[in-house]
Amino acid sequence: MIDPLSIPVTADDFRRLAAQKLPRFLFDYIDGGANAEQTLKENVQDFTRLHLSQRVLRDVSKVNTRSTLLGQEVDMPLALAPVGMAGMMRRRGEVQAVRAAAAAGVPFTLSTVGVCPVEEVKAASQQPFWFQLYMLRDRQAVVSILERARRAGCDTLLFTVDLAVPGLRHRDARNALESQSLKGKLSRAYQLGTRPGWLFDVGVKGKPHTLGNLSELLNGSEDFTDYKIFASSQFDASVTWDDIQWLRDHWKGKLVIKGILEVDDAKRCQALGAEGIVVSNHGGRQLDGAASSISKLPAIAEAVGSDLEVLLDGGVRNGVDLVKAVALGARGVLIGRPWIWAIAGGGEAGLRAYLDSFQKEVEATLALIGIDSISALQRDHVQ
Ligand code: FNR
Repeated sequence: MIDPLSIPVTADDFRRLAAQKLPRFLFDYIDGGANAEQTLKENVQDFTRLHLSQRVLRDVSKVNTRSTLLGQEVDMPLALAPVGMAGMMRRRGEVQAVRAAAAAGVPFTLSTVGVCPVEEVKAASQQPFWFQLYMLRDRQAVVSILERARRAGCDTLLFTVDLAVPGLRHRDARNALESQSLKGKLSRAYQLGTRPGWLFDVGVKGKPHTLGNLSELLNGSEDFTDYKIFASSQFDASVTWDDIQWLRDHWKGKLVIKGILEVDDAKRCQALGAEGIVVSNHGGRQLDGAASSISKLPAIAEAVGSDLEVLLDGGVRNGVDLVKAVALGARGVLIGRPWIWAIAGGGEAGLRAYLDSFQKEVEATLALIGIDSISALQRDHVQ
């Protein structure tokens, strides 16, 4: 239980707040991973096994955390990862998140399966945001979603490739996440008298919780059960490397392949002309038993050199983790759970506070290892 009077600062503070606010089935949906959750745990633990070199008596009176990601100027090399159904955690969650990201000077990524559609997210912020794609069997529908993203000003597409089939998330099965109707779950949460704050925060009686980018395909349904049927009939497990070319033909912006964990796959992305990759195991929600992202980063970054922008996600919880990942060869990092915990626990103000504290951590960490900018980070800063 978090002290109601204390001010949440870290990812873990917001996680505990989110646990207090959200109904169990939603908290577990965010918090959980696949199978025994080994990869989920190791993503976080492996960061703690890396140590930074403390170097002293350098002039660090001015420290600059600015950088660029995919050609876009950023206040620190961090982006918000795509998270499906974020708008279920707080009223119009994606809109609140894109505003907080813009205030922090970092990109926001909207998921294919976000609650707010691209048009609503665009209207909420002047700053361009990124769009994430899951390939659907109905390629015409994909073309139309990409066109909507382009019109909303997205110039960077994250194409997620580590969800050939959905991971087995046992917590979701226990909570009957996909087999019981959303309406049933909401009324049960209400009957139990728990989380009335969440029912208010999320605005159940306000706009519907359809998946805005897919609403035409889902015929306006608001139900997880329909979403599951949709996912099993539309998510395409037969996608191969040949489809990257198809995507190239239909997406003229920057293309980033998300969900790469092996050197040979990274080289293939490079050969196919992608602008970037995200070294990722989907936050431990897909292949349990896969290695942590941070343990895979150095070899991949070394193999692809500077031609391909290498981003990383999985287990990043604070500014120290960002510094470690950049030192090991990442251009920048993405966070998934931390931003969604902050939105669920504290809304836009919560996420702003978390990102502000994150940026201060990056700044202080650079200073304490004796350098004054992100670009000065090198491999030997990490042991
Ligand atoms: C995700 N992730 C994800 N990825 C994606 O490409 N499209 C999506 O819709 C989602 N949805 C989603 C929902 C939830 C609840 C979580 C926690 C994650 C994966 C996400 O983009 C990212 O890869 C991981 O979250 C990174 O790990 P951390 O930061 O959560 O440890």
